[in-house]
Amino acid sequence: MNTTPPEVASKLAEYHQEHLLQWWDTLSDEQQDSLVGQIESVDFEMIQKVWQESKNPPATAGSDVNRVDQAAAPKSVVLQPASAVEEAQWKQAAEVGAQRLADGKVAVITVAGGQGSRLGFAHPKGMFPIGPISSRSLFQVFAEQILARKRRHGGDLPWLIMTSAATHSETIEFFEQHDFWGLDRETVAFFQQGSMPAVDASSGRVLMSAADTLCLSPDGHGGLVMALKSSGLLDRMASEGVEDFFYHQVDNPTVIMCDPSLVGLHALNNSQLTTCVVKKLRPMERMGVLVDIGDHVEIIEYSELDEEQAAREDASGQWIFWAGNTAIHMFSLAFLEQLTSGGGQLALHVAEKAVDHIDAMGKLTEPSELNANKFERFIFDALPLATTALIVEGNREREFNPVKNAQGNDSPVTSREALSRIGREWLAAAGHTLQETVTVEISPLTALDADELVGSLADGSITVSSLIGPPAAS
Ligand code: UTP
Repeated sequence: MNTTPPEVASKLAEYHQEHLLQWWDTLSDEQQDSLVGQIESVDFEMIQKVWQESKNPPATAGSDVNRVDQAAAPKSVVLQPASAVEEAQWKQAAEVGAQRLADGKVAVITVAGGQGSRLGFAHPKGMFPIGPISSRSLFQVFAEQILARKRRHGGDLPWLIMTSAATHSETIEFFEQHDFWGLDRETVAFFQQGSMPAVDASSGRVLMSAADTLCLSPDGHGGLVMALKSSGLLDRMASEGVEDFFYHQVDNPTVIMCDPSLVGLHALNNSQLTTCVVKKLRPMERMGVLVDIGDHVEIIEYSELDEEQAAREDASGQWIFWAGNTAIHMFSLAFLEQLTSGGGQLALHVAEKAVDHIDAMGKLTEPSELNANKFERFIFDALPLATTALIVEGNREREFNPVKNAQGNDSPVTSREALSRIGREWLAAAGHTLQETVTVEISPLTALDADELVGSLADGSITVSSLIGPPAAS
């Protein structure tokens, strides 16, 4: 049994967090070491500052009202092609993108550190069985897309997967178990994002989930910037000749991995940060939207807009807040490097959450009301920091079908339906007749798009549910 380490105790006293050592004398040596490690990982000064500011926000300047009123529909936009000339421009961009992939200038970043609380799946979300027939996992869909891209374009395509303390070991075990779905494991890297403590909303005191454990959670997808740097991967990618990152979230199986058009448009425009957006379906749809505010591109969160604001139109009668964020981005490596220089971090946001914890008597409390504040960084806060940002309109039905909720919108049902619908469209384009009710699933290893399917299958009508390509790995 060790006595309380004096430097830890005085640090805690300075920030009124002494309760974290309340059960010290009851802990084993190992538990004490673990608790000290957790306490040392917390920047109490920053947490206290951000928490206090959230309770007393600075008046007016930069407030949401000003942001919304100043916002204009984004100007630097490439819309979906609507004429032969625009078709030709997209085609040219795709050729440039294909060449960038062949030259090994691109790496993939998948952010997979989230806790997926809305879905309520007991494992990392990437393990979720999404294939409508095969039940292949989200991770397998991405692995197959990456393999297929490499085969099509040549070139290395490193895959960097950001995990968190909550998802790290299980994710790696899952990849091992499936032998990385045929990818060369040297080309796949896992790196962990940081953690942030949850604090009691009324006192700012850090919550504990057990006598030796702080309530810690991942520091948001914006934790990517520093995690990429501190893992050494940013430097490694630079030394391997990578210049751009294709960034996507783990929850969208219809993402067009390293879409050559997006890769090419990003390069042709010398963009630091390119974002794929889709038209919102209705003004109040719960999506962040990209706008111009002054000289910068920024995101306005749906929670910042009331009904009147969300439906505002510009002089041409178009919605100002139309450009919904798909969270598919291209980052230049130089821009990420610039963000990390000087230890610069993206801003911390404070969210209200219900967090299970132990009370002062050590009893587990499972609140049904919002009792706590969590701290997160958002990757889209990098947008206003880019001096050259580009917005590219994507095809919503084709590439944005995320799994967020257990039921209803953006759920496994809607996402599987989308995978099947896309497969049916490709088969129809390839000359097959389909019965309306059949479910279809096409492995990315068989085709990455409709064109690739043409000629690869015998003609005929498809009357039963069909899995085209290899099944899910067992
Ligand atoms: P979401 O904002 O949808 O959060 O993450 P989530 O944790 O997956 O789900 P909920 O909100 O708890 O239901 C969008 C993407 O960002 C990643 C997620 O894994 C997902 O790919 N993410 C989120 C991280 O990598 N780290 C985080 O700290 C948060």
